[in-house]
Amino acid sequence: MLYLIGIGLSDEKDITVKGLEAIRQCDIVYLESYTSKLQVGVDKLEEFYGKKVVAIDRNFVEDGSGIIEKSKETNVALLVVGDVFGATTHMGLILRLKKESIGYEIIHNASILTVVGETGLELYKFGRVASIPFENSNIESPYDVLKENGDLHTLFLLDLDTKKNKFMRFDEAIEYLLRIEGKRKEGIFDDNKLCVVCCGLGSKKQVIKARGFDDLLKEKIDIFPQCLIVPGKLHFVEEEMLEIFK
Ligand SMILES: C[S@@+](CC[C@H](N)C(=O)[O-])C[C@H]1O[C@@H](n2cnc3c(N)ncnc32)[C@H](O)[C@@H]1O
Repeated sequence: MLYLIGIGLSDEKDITVKGLEAIRQCDIVYLESYTSKLQVGVDKLEEFYGKKVVAIDRNFVEDGSGIIEKSKETNVALLVVGDVFGATTHMGLILRLKKESIGYEIIHNASILTVVGETGLELYKFGRVASIPFENSNIESPYDVLKENGDLHTLFLLDLDTKKNKFMRFDEAIEYLLRIEGKRKEGIFDDNKLCVVCCGLGSKKQVIKARGFDDLLKEKIDIFPQCLIVPGKLHFVEEEMLEIFK
């Protein structure tokens, strides 16, 4: 069978007890390493889990055949940074397992979609999540999401390429939104709007800052991955919480 195991956001010790027990029953342990990145390398995972960990790329997961064939023969673990469902990319695999009557178990963990709660912004008050890709010269949909979210908070996930160790920075994301605002002039992202930036959340090095975008554009923080939140209407408790990060 296949165990789909979220391993959390920071290091080898974020795995749950259930996740670790499942890994110990597996002959093959794959690490999906393209939707996010831990603060430690594969060697640390191998040492802590006591298993060889094979990093696999997007094609291998999306094609799925290799994982499915192995899961027919033996117990396989697919490790996902964060939570299994923190990225849409694993749905296809689960549908195929179901169709082929291969057993699977999902073991959850913290995801960027929940740990952003540490900013003090209420998770219930987030609207649609938007991703900003590296190649964004002809893309305006993240700005549209911000517009549609209105009074709700908007979480922007920022592109990464783990193979090239390349991560979008929050200041690039702010500049992107300013560029689209400059073009469309709809007043969705102007007036030095308050932004919350999160870098390496869940790790000891994590940084959260809540400031107007002018101030944030002057900051360079080399802790990755990063995401950007544009808060909507704030409750006074949220305002008080954000004070911590000003
Ligand atoms: C597809 S999403 C998240 C996938 C992961 N499976 C999860 O559940 O969190 C990847 C994006 O989340 C954001 N992200 C992931 N980990 C982060 C972290 N520790 N701190 C800040 N942002 C993070 C980045 O913007 C990154 O591009």
